[in-house]
Amino acid sequence: MKPSQYKIAVLPGDGIGPEVTKVGLKVLEKVALKHNINYETDFFPFGGEHYLKTGEILSDESMNKLKEYDAIYLGAIGSPKVKPGILEQGILLKLRFGFDQYINLRPVKLYPGVETPIKNKTAKDLDYIVIRENTGDLYTGIGGFTMKDTEDEVAVQSMVYNYKQVSRCLRYAFELARNRPRKKLALIGKTNVLTFTYDLWNRVFNKIGESEFPDVTREYYHVDAVVMHMIKEPERFDVMVTGNMFGDIITDLGAVTQGGMGMAASANLNPSNKFPSMFEPVHGSAPDIAGQNKANPMAAVMSIKMLLEFIGQHKAANDTETAICKVTPMNLDKMSTNEIEYAILKHLT
Ligand code: NAD
Ligand code: IPM
Ligand code: MN
Repeated sequence: MKPSQYKIAVLPGDGIGPEVTKVGLKVLEKVALKHNINYETDFFPFGGEHYLKTGEILSDESMNKLKEYDAIYLGAIGSPKVKPGILEQGILLKLRFGFDQYINLRPVKLYPGVETPIKNKTAKDLDYIVIRENTGDLYTGIGGFTMKDTEDEVAVQSMVYNYKQVSRCLRYAFELARNRPRKKLALIGKTNVLTFTYDLWNRVFNKIGESEFPDVTREYYHVDAVVMHMIKEPERFDVMVTGNMFGDIITDLGAVTQGGMGMAASANLNPSNKFPSMFEPVHGSAPDIAGQNKANPMAAVMSIKMLLEFIGQHKAANDTETAICKVTPMNLDKMSTNEIEYAILKHLT
């Protein structure tokens, strides 16, 4: 990664994407100035409008251009004017798969003063990270129909993982857990039913854990049980690792426990830096509130914090988080996007 001048590709996307990334970029501008971080941004229009206007979803030529960037900052993809899946698969998943962003980091953290729907839990009880494998599983698109539109129709969608995908993800997860005070890693699976895919995960988990990370405590939860514990006893979790599909589902639950979709950030990482990594909120384009100055931009700002961390700008990342912590005790639900932006910038000193 070039130390002096970072190149960031910005894909604001659809719905509330442009509103929330605008705030994230303002925060980046201010914190970068303070820490002498030089960067340039280029904007790319991919999303519903661009597709309807030009027919381009995200071409291979555009992927080649994006390859040159140090990081990608994305708002949200998905438009009610386009059939579900076209943009999400053609843009979001194409980026995650094409750039081999095999780690999707999704921290679940209750910030100071934020109301959680879980009774009697406070910031000290909710602070864990979900590592969602990001290149395999039901997301590979392997499957198909036979005898479509007849009563004999069969539809198949395959849960696919190979040893390499599972082991590189688990190594990353163990490494991350090793560097946290509690040193605890929980594998989330469904070994009682998915006796092929999650048997592979479980075997490799124990093998790597035993031989390379004996200092990390290993735990295993079935996915149905883990959602119960995420509500009843979130304090038991430190780092979780799971496949793509379960990771998608449980992180929306995690987001709600940390105060709502507007509070959850994520990083799609290519840890080898062979291709750019991508930073985006967990939430989608929220067409129901788009253009109304209602979207909470915190998740987008926290994604900037994760971007700064990934490029090694830890002081700037810490400053961003400090400003976030000063704003979260305000009643964000009652504040507009602009008011939240103003408050964060004011506290970013
Ligand atoms: P969503 O996350 O867009 O919205 C779910 C609910 O949360 C809505 O009520 C919305 O108003 C609310 N919400 C989301 N973000 C918010 C924010 N920042 N502040 C306040 N409220 C917020 O999920 P959905 O409705 O299932 O999906 C809408 C579209 O987004 C679909 O096309 C979907 O495929 C897409 N999507 C994209 C991404 C992404 O780009 N990463 C993620 C999820 C969904
Ligand atoms: C997410 C989203 C995406 C996913 C969709 C929009 C493809 O839900 O980032 O969580 O399933 O990964
Ligand atoms: Mn999701």
